Amino acid sequence: MGFLQAQNCTNFPASWRHPESRTDFLSADYYAEIGRILEAGKFHLAFFDDRLAMPDRYGNDHVHAVEHGIRCVKLDPLVTLMVMGMATERLGLGATCSTTYYEPFHVARVFGTIDLMTAGRAAWNVVTSLNDGEALNMGRSGVMEHDLRYDRADEFMEVVLGHWDAWEDDALIVDKHTGRFADGNRVHRLDYNGRFFRSRGPFTVPRSAQGHPVIIQAGQSGRGRRFAARWGEVIFSTAHDVPSGKRSYTGLKEEAALAGRDPEHMKICTLVMPVCGESRAQAEDRMALIKQLPLEIDALSLLAEAINFDVASKGLDEPFTREELDSISGLQGIRDRVLAASGKSNPTVRDFVQISGRGTAEGAVVGGPREVADVLEEHFMEGVCDGFVVAATHVPGGYADFVRWVVPELQRRGLYHTDYEGHTLRENLGLPRPAVGASRSTTASSGRG
Ligand SMILES: Cc1cc2nc3c(=O)[nH]c(=O)nc-3n(C[C@H](O)[C@H](O)[C@H](O)COP(=O)(O)O)c2cc1C
Repeated sequence: MGFLQAQNCTNFPASWRHPESRTDFLSADYYAEIGRILEAGKFHLAFFDDRLAMPDRYGNDHVHAVEHGIRCVKLDPLVTLMVMGMATERLGLGATCSTTYYEPFHVARVFGTIDLMTAGRAAWNVVTSLNDGEALNMGRSGVMEHDLRYDRADEFMEVVLGHWDAWEDDALIVDKHTGRFADGNRVHRLDYNGRFFRSRGPFTVPRSAQGHPVIIQAGQSGRGRRFAARWGEVIFSTAHDVPSGKRSYTGLKEEAALAGRDPEHMKICTLVMPVCGESRAQAEDRMALIKQLPLEIDALSLLAEAINFDVASKGLDEPFTREELDSISGLQGIRDRVLAASGKSNPTVRDFVQISGRGTAEGAVVGGPREVADVLEEHFMEGVCDGFVVAATHVPGGYADFVRWVVPELQRRGLYHTDYEGHTLRENLGLPRPAVGASRSTTASSGRG
């Protein structure tokens, strides 16, 4: 699947500086074109990330982010998703939406509608949001405590899935002769009354061709992974090496089984940023160019945003104190990895920049068709993942190169489908169509009436 951003750059902020990057990221055609490329490459899913703020944690100021184009434009991903949906026929369409800043009824209705408008191709990436900028934009004074965000998100899911179950599949009749529009006994109120949310229903959107949108999740902490194992049907992960990727994969599948789910119904996909070309030499030349694009401020700004800590308050070589490390409320996985990889109990800002690789194309898989396919094949065959989330170094070339050079090689090896298997996203991903009420059987419902 494709990792997309409705913004001025990809998750590699320097992408907009790439000589081949399109600059019309404010136009519908930009997103339509990406969709067409991914569909030509038979991608199952195009997925938009989201953040409800520009990166302004660094120095508590936005000017650097705007000046350097560091993810400072963030369009609404659901609207761009629909543009992409109208330009394609089979491509799955996913967008991120936060459980911390919206009402579950609203989110259920928007995604339910997109699923109908795209004939069963929608997916929702469930995030709890992690930095103060988002909180401040959405009328809060600061980010909510990490585990509490997930407790709240659990209830959010119960409400959303509960509403998606409101209309039984055969509830609609629409018979002009008898005058019966729908079976009133097959449309149900939710009457949810929980610790965080209340929602009555009945929900106003009937079910789609695939039942309801696919749930995507990317929790990485202990609490986040429990949440992912309970709800996630597609999981985004990051694998830093094969052994740790394998451990993470089996651990998450086991956790899904513990939550009463069939682990086969959870597809784990790892992030990969390919830099490819016709040959290894051509790819290496491309990477040499890409390496010249990032600025140090890209890394510092995105690091501050991700860990929700103003690293401008410290010198580059100044160590973090224990209290500062404990106070990191954003991506704690970055902190834990820096502690482990640096071997220091008080790593410096520079250690964070170098080890996290934020803002750079560090870790990109560089090569001709065979070299890139070799890496993907190894990860897949070794049990690191069920699929990949492909990030781009520039748009649309990063995706186009992958489709042109790597997809045919993977197809030759029998590792990649040559066409879509079905019409809905669930059919293409090999996920079952959920029966009405299916989510209730695996969950400890707290607030249902
Ligand atoms: C590939 C990938 C994409 C993600 N996309 C988003 C996003 O768009 N918005 C967001 O707020 N968080 C995003 N996250 C962050 C996750 O939702 C999650 O918060 C993070 O992995 C840390 O896990 P934790 O919440 O359990 O601490 C993403 C994570 C990964 C690995």
